[in-house]
Amino acid sequence: MRKETKPSRAIDRPKFPFVQLNAAMTADGKLAPASRVFEPFGSKRDQELLYQLRAGADAVMAGARTVDLFPATLEPGAKKYRQQRLRNKLSEYNIRVVATGSGTLNPDAEIFKHRHSPIIILASKKISPEKLKVLRSLADDVGIFGKSEIDFRAAMSWLRSKWKIKRLVCEGGGALNDAMLRAGMVDEIYVTVCPLLFGGAQAPTLADGEGFTTLGKAMPLRLKSIRKIKEELFLVFTPDQTKQRR
Ligand SMILES: NC(=O)c1ccc[n+]([C@@H]2O[C@H](COP(=O)([O-])OP(=O)(O)OC[C@H]3O[C@@H](n4cnc5c(N)ncnc54)[C@H](OP(=O)(O)O)[C@@H]3O)[C@@H](O)[C@H]2O)c1
Repeated sequence: MRKETKPSRAIDRPKFPFVQLNAAMTADGKLAPASRVFEPFGSKRDQELLYQLRAGADAVMAGARTVDLFPATLEPGAKKYRQQRLRNKLSEYNIRVVATGSGTLNPDAEIFKHRHSPIIILASKKISPEKLKVLRSLADDVGIFGKSEIDFRAAMSWLRSKWKIKRLVCEGGGALNDAMLRAGMVDEIYVTVCPLLFGGAQAPTLADGEGFTTLGKAMPLRLKSIRKIKEELFLVFTPDQTKQRR
């Protein structure tokens, strides 16, 4: 078993982006406290991993609540990471993708004040014409996929063909992660387990939403690497290839 915290190399998928899900979670699997007010709780090393993953990706994606409950910009960060992107033959600033099925994303969210790179909105047919109009005026592109929830298989295929996104980092939250996992669109799962416990049934977890409702339907994973640094565990899982729905 490899022991690493460095991101792996991209595998080129002809139809979809190669998707790396990344999250920091507590020992009880929570992404934030029940208040949902997010304050980064991972170490500097965990932050480094986040920016290293972004530095290897064409795009970073998050759900509406992750973007508007916290002033998230989904940008590449400091100059050293932007230079790393250029060395990786990527644009200096990654594309940003936000999932907001019914368009509840706050138009005043911080992300719209940072215009170094395109912002793409993914929505479903649940979005009202009014909300769609507002988001169209703020984003560089809006893709509508699926009736009641976003069809992420179709959305990823569109991002690959229209926006040439070969590698995408999915940064949660729990609702988005769940939808991406259920759609079979995740290739690697980076989890940093932090020495902390939030508890609380309402606190977001690594994968919320519908989930896989029985053990028989659960997603089998393989543990690809593990590393303990101080009090944190850096884990990388891959879905069992033989059962992936690609
Ligand atoms: N520790 C970490 O690494 C980490 C990382 C990210 C987030 N977080 C925390 O997690 C919390 C947010 O997570 P969350 O689960 O509440 O929200 P989320 O996944 O960030 O966003 C949820 C929203 O995304 C849209 N969405 C997600 N899946 C969808 C689907 N299948 N179809 C259509 N739309 C979909 C919906 O927007 P509409 O309402 O517009 O339909 C939904 O309300 C925050 O507290 C955040 O700080 C922690």
